[in-house]
Amino acid sequence: MTDTATLRARNADFWGRTAPGWIHQADRHDEIGRPLGAVALDWLRPQPGERALDIGCGCGGTTAEIAKAVAPSGTAVGLDLAEAMVTTARKRFTAPGGAGPRFVVGDVETLDAVPGAPFDAVYSRMTLMLLAEPVAGLTTVRRAMRTGARLAATVFRDGRVNPWLPAALLGASAHLGPSPPLPVGDEPGPFAFADPARVTRLLIAAGFTDIGIHPYDVTLDAPDDSDLVTEWLIEIGPAGAAYRDAQPVTQGQARAGVARLLERFRTPGIGYRLPTGLWLITARSDSTSAP
Ligand SMILES: C[S@@+](CC[C@H](N)C(=O)[O-])C[C@H]1O[C@@H](n2cnc3c(N)ncnc32)[C@H](O)[C@@H]1O
Repeated sequence: MTDTATLRARNADFWGRTAPGWIHQADRHDEIGRPLGAVALDWLRPQPGERALDIGCGCGGTTAEIAKAVAPSGTAVGLDLAEAMVTTARKRFTAPGGAGPRFVVGDVETLDAVPGAPFDAVYSRMTLMLLAEPVAGLTTVRRAMRTGARLAATVFRDGRVNPWLPAALLGASAHLGPSPPLPVGDEPGPFAFADPARVTRLLIAAGFTDIGIHPYDVTLDAPDDSDLVTEWLIEIGPAGAAYRDAQPVTQGQARAGVARLLERFRTPGIGYRLPTGLWLITARSDSTSAP
């Protein structure tokens, strides 16, 4: 197994290199990717006046949505490791005079304290499974929460119920060269939280209680535009950095490679329907945990 420091450095390096693709796709991802976190937002129901945290906020779309729910007197903080994405989030959502959500650069595993704490509600979409040392990251989160505050997060289940994700990687890497190393065992990656028993153990170790891990099947609806859809998936995935560095002809080959593997999810004239299997993770910070 790879040691934690190496995994953490690999994660930071990956998101630094992948950030330009996420920035380029920010509006599209907010729109098509909304079902990836909608169930968590429904469960969390942030209320006006609350303090809310969005872990791994990316380019800020979900933090902005939460900020509207807690307005006018509440606050929403988006935290992300990737500085370029945080800068983009600020540009996209900070209102004149500095109003709106607040965005902070930081690694949730190594932060001593999260600015804006204590939080009443914590949200995270598709990030917790990327933590190199999940108990460390989840403990930072729990410490940043008021006692009894609620956490709602989504993560992928496994590759079988998210077939578009490996398809996007395989179709592109045939043209763009090898992608970053695939995770081994419990190492961080898209499917590292596939086992609900493991997720429960990690949350208990970090001091959470009232833990729920619920399966949700959602569909990502995308337009019938293979260049748009394949570029979106490549740019937000492991081949994203190589794609952006590639010549236009190679980029076209990569898109075509992904399009072939995604054809079974396409209805001509209507669009793509990408089946997606999530866990909705819910929990509360435990009053008996050490601070
Ligand atoms: C799959 S993206 C999801 C982004 C956003 N939540 C969304 O759903 O659009 C994962 C995000 O988590 C961030 N991230 C990964 N590890 C992190 C860590 N240890 N601390 C803070 N952010 C992290 C990445 O920079 C990236 O923006």
